[in-house]
Amino acid sequence: MRLTTVWLTDFRNYENLEIQLDEGFTAVLGPNGAGKTNLVESLALLATLKSFRRAPTESLIRKGATKAVVRATGIRDDREVLIELELAKGRTRAQVNRQPLKRTRDLLGALRVTVFGPDDLALVKEGPSVRREYVDDLIVALDPAADAVVSDLDRIVRQRNALLRQMSGPNDEASLLTLDIWDEKLAAAGEHLTIRRENLLADLMPLATASYRVLSDTDVDLVAYYNRSWQTERMSEAIAIARANDQRRGSTSVGPHRDDIGVSVGGFDSRTECSQGEQRTLALALRLAGHRLLAERLGEPPLLLLDDVLSELDPDRARALLASLPPGQTVITSAQGLPPDTVPDQILVHHGDRLEVQESFTAANASPPDTPPVSND
Ligand SMILES: Nc1ncnc2c1ncn2[C@@H]1O[C@H](COP(=O)(O)OP(=O)(O)OP(=O)(O)O)[C@@H](O)[C@H]1O
Ligand SMILES: [Mg+2]
Repeated sequence: MRLTTVWLTDFRNYENLEIQLDEGFTAVLGPNGAGKTNLVESLALLATLKSFRRAPTESLIRKGATKAVVRATGIRDDREVLIELELAKGRTRAQVNRQPLKRTRDLLGALRVTVFGPDDLALVKEGPSVRREYVDDLIVALDPAADAVVSDLDRIVRQRNALLRQMSGPNDEASLLTLDIWDEKLAAAGEHLTIRRENLLADLMPLATASYRVLSDTDVDLVAYYNRSWQTERMSEAIAIARANDQRRGSTSVGPHRDDIGVSVGGFDSRTECSQGEQRTLALALRLAGHRLLAERLGEPPLLLLDDVLSELDPDRARALLASLPPGQTVITSAQGLPPDTVPDQILVHHGDRLEVQESFTAANASPPDTPPVSND
């Protein structure tokens, strides 16, 4: 699905905003604090109902207002689709074509997005939980039904931990019987998710390597490793071996929530040995790989949202990114302007609290030599 018009009411710093989005590449330009990330956040919200900045609903509502509305029309299979979100403290209501959604999961799939923002450096720099979440999010984006696997696992681990902590001792018979049940559930869901993650990484890494090579103009290989928290043939055996220890510590030491995921770039560990710029390039390559995988499998590229991506890259990498944008609808925000030879299909510029189409620029009549450079350098 591609978006055509977006309306924001009392969303973040926007009291009322209406924008038309081109079906190709839109650049959103404006100074710090203009509302560029807020706009990207609203577009991502239409697909996921969650802030990609992990902000609570209250911060999405304009200060002083009681609710925010994010509304958009889009086109899918030649039909118009209307998505409407109403955010108020403590509740979010979503409708697609004026039909209320029963579950969040029902929205997944109406619109799909790939978001890359400055915080994505965490994907490389931080501990394995960020990478586990990245992989799990991709699994769910490819197959919304897998949402149940991921959330079940989370619940199983939490409940098993709670039980371990409340057991009165190693011979608490009643609790041991309940523990048996949680162990079985953990083994079944855990093994399933582990295998899905390993398969996903195997599919993803060739695409990530290709993206990284284009961005960096090198021919390095990216290699991902997935270190399971269990080495036995079946996960149930490892859970049984770890049980006494888990009881003493009151936590679950075996399962996908403890698995380690990492990536090396040309043989260097990305977390501890790559430069800051290489880490940024890797994070971007990983997002773009996920994007391409979704586009391939779903037969249609998600909406690609690249927030402030250019300031993170050196001029050659920025140019390489813009020259190799995947097909489909793309929104790129920038506080510095664009490299001089960039030709977006549409440029939106912030003027105070307004966001306007840059009139001197229309893609139809833009040929590169006549295009005024947008860059301020
Ligand atoms: N709930 C809210 N109500 C009103 N204004 C808000 C709300 N939340 C954030 N803002 C304001 O929105 C402004 C724009 O934020 P945003 O992150 O979108 O800027 P930006 O254009 O991405 O800037 P930068 O280039 O620095 O990343 C901020 O100045 C912030 O004060
Ligand atoms: Mg921003």
